[in-house]
Amino acid sequence: MSKNITARPVKKAVFPVAGLGTRFLPATKAMPKEMLPVCDRPLIQHVVEEARQAGIEDFIFITGRHKELLEEHFDYQAELEATLEARSKTALLEKVRESEIPAGHLFCTRQPKPLGLGHAVWCAAKIIGDEPFAVLLPDVLMKGKESCLKQMVDVYQKTGGNLIAVEEVPRAETNKYGIIDTKDESLAIMPVDGLVEKPEPAKAPSTLSVVGRYIFQPELFEYLSAFETGAGGEIQLTDAMAKLIGKQPFNAMRFDGKSYDCGSRPGFIEANIAYGLSDPEIAHSVKEVLKRYA
Ligand code: G1P
Repeated sequence: MSKNITARPVKKAVFPVAGLGTRFLPATKAMPKEMLPVCDRPLIQHVVEEARQAGIEDFIFITGRHKELLEEHFDYQAELEATLEARSKTALLEKVRESEIPAGHLFCTRQPKPLGLGHAVWCAAKIIGDEPFAVLLPDVLMKGKESCLKQMVDVYQKTGGNLIAVEEVPRAETNKYGIIDTKDESLAIMPVDGLVEKPEPAKAPSTLSVVGRYIFQPELFEYLSAFETGAGGEIQLTDAMAKLIGKQPFNAMRFDGKSYDCGSRPGFIEANIAYGLSDPEIAHSVKEVLKRYA
């Protein structure tokens, strides 16, 4: 029997930012990969803004060693603001202020060892408490007319329970993602019957991949705290998610927009082009630059 879950509002979001960023070395030798800029703001800020537009109020970073810069980025920078003010750089000052997280709303906790995404999310258990929450992976940028998490919150208000965003991937690439099993892929909101982390193409139950945006009920922590290892010997978020199926509503939705895998160099470069083309200040120049490479 499924529990009767009412859609309690989602106000807290977890951002796992402990990863090493090896695919961007040496750029990420001394700088967190989440600080790599896409257009005029670091990856992490794009994702924090997506969450903010969905009504998220509390931001929980799961950090690790050498990630202090992330905290710094969202802080109030008195000297910088005073300089911009003195120089009447109002637009820039506005941009800087937009990048702040207000007092009492940024929480940072460490994942001491890289034990897997499931373990990273578990590190937020005490801060989340008994509330629904979102998880956003900053490697993936979601670009659409409306924030992806906002689209999800709108659906969640009707469905309650757990909800993930999915998108189609080529069958040859199922071994890079969490993949869902669902009976009817034509539905706008698809009940999830199963989840597998990085299945080989021949064994994948579908080609619908989990894109790194999740809304969960706090019962997820009961399964994460078993610390069971799965694919790649890591404590997988996907495995704990799979255990919620049948106990609580668990749905998947396609979001309206495009995702950019900024954990890969080509995806990161494409994101910079896409965000550059939608920035009115530089769109024209970016178009001119692209013509030279056509
Ligand atoms: C993680 C998740 C996977 C998901 C992917 C999305 O994998 O474990 O289920 O599909 O993010 O980017 P990772 O990319 O950390 O290996």
